[in-house]
Amino acid sequence: MFQIKKTFAALLGGLSLLPALTNAFTNPIFWEDLADLDIRRVNDTYYYTSSTMHYSPGAPILRSYDLKNWEYIAHAVPTLDFGSTYSLQGGQAYIQGIWASFFAYHPQKNTWFWGGCIDFQTSYLYSASSVTGPWTRYTTINKCYYDSGLLIDDDGTMYVSYANSNNIWVAQLSSDGKSEVRSQQVFVPPSDIGYLEGTRMYKRNGQYYILATHPANAEYTLKASSPWGSYSSKALAVSVKPPVTGGGNPHQGGLIDTPSGQWYYMAFVDSYPGGRIPAMAPVTWGSDGFPTLQLSNGAWGTSYPDVLTPHPVTSPTGIENLTSIGPRWEWNHNPDTSKFSTSSNGLTLNTATVTFDLYSARNTITRRILGPKSTSTIKLNYGNMKDGDRAGLVLLRHLSAWIGVKRDNGNYIVGFTNGLAMNSDWSTSNTGTTVATAGISGGTIYLRITADISPGGSKQALFYYSTDNSSWKQLGSFTMNTDWEFFMGYRYGIFNYATSALGGSVNVPYFQLDSA
Ligand SMILES: *[C@@H]1O[C@H](CO)[C@@H](O)[C@H](O)[C@H]1NC(C)=O
Ligand SMILES: *[C@@H]1O[C@H](CO)[C@@H](O)[C@H](O)[C@H]1NC(C)=O
Ligand SMILES: *[C@@H]1O[C@H](CO)[C@@H](O)[C@H](O)[C@H]1NC(C)=O
Repeated sequence: MFQIKKTFAALLGGLSLLPALTNAFTNPIFWEDLADLDIRRVNDTYYYTSSTMHYSPGAPILRSYDLKNWEYIAHAVPTLDFGSTYSLQGGQAYIQGIWASFFAYHPQKNTWFWGGCIDFQTSYLYSASSVTGPWTRYTTINKCYYDSGLLIDDDGTMYVSYANSNNIWVAQLSSDGKSEVRSQQVFVPPSDIGYLEGTRMYKRNGQYYILATHPANAEYTLKASSPWGSYSSKALAVSVKPPVTGGGNPHQGGLIDTPSGQWYYMAFVDSYPGGRIPAMAPVTWGSDGFPTLQLSNGAWGTSYPDVLTPHPVTSPTGIENLTSIGPRWEWNHNPDTSKFSTSSNGLTLNTATVTFDLYSARNTITRRILGPKSTSTIKLNYGNMKDGDRAGLVLLRHLSAWIGVKRDNGNYIVGFTNGLAMNSDWSTSNTGTTVATAGISGGTIYLRITADISPGGSKQALFYYSTDNSSWKQLGSFTMNTDWEFFMGYRYGIFNYATSALGGSVNVPYFQLDSA
């Protein structure tokens, strides 16, 4: 016993000589589809928001205390109140909605603001006095602040940077933030930079900065002594080798500092089929007043020494009893709130649409896939389904596949359906074909999808079911598509729709996410 203690103490002593190993952050920071980020710090807490397009609620807010452990805490856009197609009524709004947007805390007003341009037409602002909400519509401005960033100046003045007519613009909002008082073109990108968008606006040491991205491989810093210019520019990250094998060049990110003065650039890496995932690297400031990215052997590092004390938050993995719909969840378009409910028994999904088309069915609820590989499992109680109903677990994107229960003529089967597809205008081109089935009975089934979303092509998702939660049978496999044009990466989704008549329901007590 004494000997063991001594050896253990020697081991601990040895470990303490290796602080770099125990204190590092690795890229990607959080392997989930969280593109078009805006990252902010208030005191010692960091916040991150992302675009969500047709998913509702929109613009998730994540929180961290160490820049590497992140948890979902809210959404800035509680409902996509931009027209009926955002509720899958009279059409669809796939890939519209929440694009690159701004998000910041206004200390003088003690208010959080989120703003973004919807449908290339109108800028919507939402606000909240607490970052966890409730968030409500604040105003609309009849102008498109495309790919906008928000600076709250030292005196509380709100400036919005945005892309317009191939150039970079700045707008000043009224003191209540409800209208525009001035706007001006401030930067014409030279031909060696080319088209810029995805702006972020900051102030540091009395200088005004705009970050702008050249899609989809570069980030530039613009600097001026006034918000209106004139701005000089310098490259921050151009065609930098990514920290993820097979991924794109990190770009379109934001700058963030720590309370003790370290700076970082958090960007995203195109990593289809999974979407666009965050990567972080340290930044130093030169005597010219521009930030410089710290590379590792000429590439974006997969790991950097970490100066922040690790602060774990809620794990993304594990069993989540669906007794309420937490901030990790987003519906495919706005849900019909009269057609679902939660209780101590979990989530009940009533059929909300009569259709043969999952892409047109309301109330599919989704989670981002945790990469590089993860497994999602649901328990499904299907005894209240009606003839013609389909319910299950879908791997959702513009080319999709699902495993689920089909009830026809009083009989239940579990089936694997693939071939669901969209046209280039995101209307449905194929509602899918059920290619494998098995008979089931008893009213309860477990459904599972394992997905490898590491970038680089030909990545598989495998579809399983179990009737006892212990022996699993594979019913299908599916090769995920890696095109970027749908923007949103693959997600896990839970659905229930009718092909004959409404009235049926399923109950989902829990969702389980496991890494690998
Ligand atoms: C940040 O810290 C200051 C000083 O402790 C405090 O007054 C302020 O309320 C904090 N802000 C927020 C949003 O928590
Ligand atoms: C989830 O529900 C099950 C069954 O009611 C219970 O045993 C388990 O403790 C719950 N888990 C959590 C994390 O609440
Ligand atoms: C199913 O099995 C998993 C372990 O693989 C366990 O965590 C979960 O609680 C089980 N579900 C039920 C309903 O027993």
